Amino acid sequence: MSQQRKILVTSALPYVNGSPHMGHLVEYLQTDIWVRFQKLRGHDCIYVCASDAHGTPIMLKAREMGITPEALTEGYSAEFANDFRDFGIEFDNYHTTHSPENEALVTEIFEALRKKGDIYTRTIEQAYDEKERMFLPDRFVRGTCPFCKTEDQYGDACENCSKTYTPADLIDPVSVISGTAPVMRESEHYFFKLSEYGDRLRAWMTDATLDKNVVAKLNEWFDAGLQDWDISRDAPYFGFRIPGTDDKYFYVWLDAPVGYMASFMNLCGRRKDLDFDAYWRPGSDVEVYHFIGKDIMYFHTLFWPAVLGGAGFRTPTSVFAHGFLTVNGQKMSKSRGTFIKARTYLDNLDPSFLRYYYAAKLGPTIEDIDLNLEDFIARVNSDLVGKLINIASRCAGFINKRFDGRLADRLPDENLFADFQGAADSIALLYERREYSKAMRSIMALADKANRYIDEHKPWVMIKDADRIADVQLVCTQGLNMFRSLIIYLSPVIPAVAASARRFLNEERWQWQDATSPLLAATLPRFEPLLTRVEPDQVTRMIEQSQESQPVPDTTADDDTISIDDFMNVDLRIARIEKAESVEGADKLLALTLDVGGSTRQVFAGIKAAYDPESLPGRHVVVVANLAPRKMRFGVSEGMVLAAGPGGEDIFLLSPDDGARAGMRVK
Ligand code: MSP
Ligand code: ZN
Repeated sequence: MSQQRKILVTSALPYVNGSPHMGHLVEYLQTDIWVRFQKLRGHDCIYVCASDAHGTPIMLKAREMGITPEALTEGYSAEFANDFRDFGIEFDNYHTTHSPENEALVTEIFEALRKKGDIYTRTIEQAYDEKERMFLPDRFVRGTCPFCKTEDQYGDACENCSKTYTPADLIDPVSVISGTAPVMRESEHYFFKLSEYGDRLRAWMTDATLDKNVVAKLNEWFDAGLQDWDISRDAPYFGFRIPGTDDKYFYVWLDAPVGYMASFMNLCGRRKDLDFDAYWRPGSDVEVYHFIGKDIMYFHTLFWPAVLGGAGFRTPTSVFAHGFLTVNGQKMSKSRGTFIKARTYLDNLDPSFLRYYYAAKLGPTIEDIDLNLEDFIARVNSDLVGKLINIASRCAGFINKRFDGRLADRLPDENLFADFQGAADSIALLYERREYSKAMRSIMALADKANRYIDEHKPWVMIKDADRIADVQLVCTQGLNMFRSLIIYLSPVIPAVAASARRFLNEERWQWQDATSPLLAATLPRFEPLLTRVEPDQVTRMIEQSQESQPVPDTTADDDTISIDDFMNVDLRIARIEKAESVEGADKLLALTLDVGGSTRQVFAGIKAAYDPESLPGRHVVVVANLAPRKMRFGVSEGMVLAAGPGGEDIFLLSPDDGARAGMRVK
């Protein structure tokens, strides 16, 4: 055994504002396979991850759902943790960025950078939503592209002409939160001097032996010139407050990668043999690798090594970036039913299938990978069930029934087994280099060889010949040993199947090298089928369950109808009238101040002829809460109160039952 390495591995920390899906799984499965491989090789390998809990989208989603960001992220974190576990993704620790360890570390890093002179403040202008009283990230402003005039584009780049710009350049910008036009407002921000890290980053890039596509990207960024990095955000923000300020927070992308260290630190609290500094201070003998998607390379190959180095920590050994998942050759789509949640997959299919399929597709580059569902069925059935498991099922029955479960004490074809032993190093190298698709091809080529051997010897024919019965035991011992080597090589990919196979072979544990020494003269328990075929029905059902319901085209319906989805989009809520006043200059209107569960809003209602304003406060009414605000002559109306009746004096406010709570949803 070569020398034991100390390795710390991470996967990107998922944003916990939605459910895990098949795209996420590319990354966590790729990493898990690598970690399991390193552990199988006897290395001291630790795999940590965490939920990425901070930032504007999470804050807004929580607000929209009427819960705290903590509650929102805890809910989704639990979902991620469960789905990861059920896919066999085994972390040594899964933590969260919203943790005391992370706050302490990010503060320490910030202070170290500030002391060194790498942090400065500068006043910048940013889009501001006056109604929501908050600064708007670029993606929260939409408008017409200043270059090609395409409408409804994000504030940072145009999807039509790909030009980049700032929200201030947009024609007719609107805040996606309130629908109002943002204004430009000044605010003081904290910057990190990334521009001074060019040389150090170039040196790091050479040491890190990155994939050539990643290097090409980095060189593009170096050529364009490194810009200092804005690491602060104004309140309201869900994150950690910057020490010494009242209303400035660390930008989520500063504390997110620090979450890798925080998760490891949290693990150190449980595992006293681990020393945080031995992993994270310069001179460390530990290899640190970050697995990420290609979309977040800038953060991991520029900001992160610069921040770590600047703050007196060691830098990552390397960063491994992968491509994006497409399904049936296209971006995942809710209407096509290809936006498949991890849980929907698990409800229908065995996780081993996906683990194998992704491995059969994955390489070390940032090339995208495609989950073609027909190919998935064919590949899994032919490789895993047809080739691999078949070796065992063809041999195990004879050993079980005719030889009391006993294997022969020698291999009849040592030369053939030598091919299986000899592949150990080359397959290991492929795993090490993340050439999983090549590793799977080598393994399946050996499986073909094993099947050919059985086909040639035909134990089912030999068994009928009394003189050759002993040979059946030999041939099946050869077959089961070839199977055993292959399943050991595959165990990082399909650990659950490998564990059942190991139990059937009556062994306690496996290390990589066990694949090279045959199992002889052992007694085996009864063989149980290890995997069954994928049925196309299972995949069809998964797609159906992922499909977002589409309105059924109905030729008899006239064009005035709306679909149930349209109706479900109407957010009906119960509100409590706090105040009702006449509106000067409007004889039909009352200005109502409504309490919609924690927040108040103003709505104008044409009910003056029917109701005396004094009779209204305290009364519950039904309102449409998500109607776009409308600017009227008298002010902005932020919703609509529902009423019935022919009009005039005969208008009746819709009242919910007594005891209603303001803000309760009606549907
Ligand atoms: N929170 C950040 C990462 C912070 S790391 C300090 C983030 N989260 S994410 O939930 O959007 O993505 C998590 C990982 O999953 C990323 O590496 C991302 O590239 C990967 N993927 C998300 N969707 C994916 C596909 N459709 N295909 C492949 N990988 C994808 O980014
Ligand atoms: Zn454009």
